[in-house]
Amino acid sequence: MAQDELRILFVADVVGHPGREAVKAILPALKKEVGADLTIVNGENAAGGFGLTSKIAAELKQAGADVITTGNHVFAQKDFVPELPHLENVLRPANYPPAAPGQGSCVVEAAGEQVLVMNVMGRIFVEALDDPFRAADAILNANPGVKIVFCDMHAEATSEKTAMGWYLDGRASAVVGTHTHIPTADARILTLPLAVPPDEQHRSSESTVNTFEGVPAMTTERAPVEVLKVSATSKPVAVAGAIAGVIRSKGRVEVQAIGAGAINQAVKAIAISRGYVAPGGLDLVCIPAFIDISIDGEERTGIRLLVESR
Ligand SMILES: [Fe+2]
Ligand SMILES: [Fe+2]
Repeated sequence: MAQDELRILFVADVVGHPGREAVKAILPALKKEVGADLTIVNGENAAGGFGLTSKIAAELKQAGADVITTGNHVFAQKDFVPELPHLENVLRPANYPPAAPGQGSCVVEAAGEQVLVMNVMGRIFVEALDDPFRAADAILNANPGVKIVFCDMHAEATSEKTAMGWYLDGRASAVVGTHTHIPTADARILTLPLAVPPDEQHRSSESTVNTFEGVPAMTTERAPVEVLKVSATSKPVAVAGAIAGVIRSKGRVEVQAIGAGAINQAVKAIAISRGYVAPGGLDLVCIPAFIDISIDGEERTGIRLLVESR
């Protein structure tokens, strides 16, 4: 009989002997504390910092791991290569070429429910493997009846992990990132209705999991503003063209001018540029401020006009 809540505990990259000792010391009690129905551990670096062995996989399972995921170092220990296919619920990234030993996904039972666990690997700044997104599609297509899906996206670039999160939005219950060994603990629920209702998902903020949400590319922080310097001899029409170009690509631009003549040309240029961007549905706002500029070691006070589209 299935219960109405399923808790998955995920432990990211366990590194070497200290990592294994920590897992043995902490995991059994932690599982009880959080009421984990399923425990997944990334063990790609559990053997001396690189790779895994069947003995260490057994140790991690003894400590409470139900499924072990890996990554780019999965084949680092040569003896492990022929052993991997014989180990139950020990995964290697699914997008290794088809002839590679082992498997990239498994279905396990937890709290009376079937759970599909998949392990895929990114390609940015790591090995060139097959497409992880198509690999994830293939696994989902091969397991149409399994509603609870967990994905360990082992990748270097956080943006690629985010991409997998969004790609599986509505299709996976949880996507977590591994490999970088940096805890970010910034889990979030994405937008699409999931196969599993959000209240049945649990993303632990306690494990050292680098989730796909911790991505600089996805922050709302803006890039440094581009600066256009205007002089008394600048042609307003030419400056207006430059302003319109930066506004279209970046959304804002700073226009700097020193002296009455330069400020006159700058204001004219902004007025003209409003006409240039208007057909694109953009209007501009201009915020003036003083700015100290050093020219040939001499400190001058000028005007900066921050121009933004609204
Ligand atoms: Fe790792
Ligand atoms: Fe790795």
